[in-house]
Amino acid sequence: MRDHTIPGVALAILAMIVLAALLPEPRRSAPAALVAPGQDRIEAELERYRSMMAGGDPFSNPGYLNVDRGEQLWSTPAGQKNADLSICDLGKGAGVVVGAFAALPRYFADAGRVLDLEGRLLWCMVHIQGRSAVELIKLRFSNPDHTSDLEDLSAFVASKSNGMKLAPPLGHAREKAALAAGEALFFRRQGPFDMSCASCHGVSGRRIRLQPLPAFSEVKEARAVMSSWPAYRVSQNALRTMEHRLYDCFWQMRLPKADYASDGVIALTSYLAHKGAGAVIQVPSIKR
Ligand code: HEC
Repeated sequence: MRDHTIPGVALAILAMIVLAALLPEPRRSAPAALVAPGQDRIEAELERYRSMMAGGDPFSNPGYLNVDRGEQLWSTPAGQKNADLSICDLGKGAGVVVGAFAALPRYFADAGRVLDLEGRLLWCMVHIQGRSAVELIKLRFSNPDHTSDLEDLSAFVASKSNGMKLAPPLGHAREKAALAAGEALFFRRQGPFDMSCASCHGVSGRRIRLQPLPAFSEVKEARAVMSSWPAYRVSQNALRTMEHRLYDCFWQMRLPKADYASDGVIALTSYLAHKGAGAVIQVPSIKR
């Protein structure tokens, strides 16, 4: 007898793919007919940056402005305690930035949590500088009206791992737990569209409109992603970090807003970082 469940499953998958193709990008509500020229413009911009960089000038990447701002912020006193970040321990000892990003996320005993880069910077800004987490999180993503210290500091610290291999540690039980939770979250279908991360990033070759979707099951693709965040995003005229990328994908899944540096986002980042382990970090990159 024929198995009548297969067409049902196939239909469901087809419906999901069609639905995925119809999902608008965050904050872009232009009707479909207007999207293509926008895409062309962004592609043309990307090409312009790529050729400038190929011309041997990596500093033509506007993301280096964020790196510079971040470097200044690192050593500028701020907050109620009027302290700079020179005693912030990113996992390699107080004040050590070189190589720190390549070994994140990791467990921090003082915080009692596994933290990603952004989460650790936030922790240091709150605990060392006496700044308000609420205020910092309000400005977590830059826009044309304000810069983001979290983005700039992330760009600076991450760039200090350039040329190094991503190797998040897995010695602590909490690191193992974060990895396991991240894997579970990655495959968990949820939200009004009943989607998981794997719905879009589970197999090679999927795309939404023009964008190929990286598959984290493929080491090569996972490494290409994990070697290249933070990134200067041409479509947003802004430097973005992994926290923002995942925030965007939560939005695409129509999930409740992802809380910044929450255990869930950090668990997902841990999973992605382990999938992409061995990637040679080169940031900030330029992305669409
Ligand atoms: C509806 C489809 C969809 C779902 C579901 C989805 N994403 Fe994405 N994801 C995208 C799109 C679209 C992009 C951007 C691709 C581009 O612009 O090149 C993207 C990009 C990314 C990137 C950056 C890729 C790169 O090339 O640098 C990461 C990391 C990522 N997603 C992780 C996740 C995680 C983790 C989840 C689950 C919480 C998730 N995504 C769920 C569609 C999705």
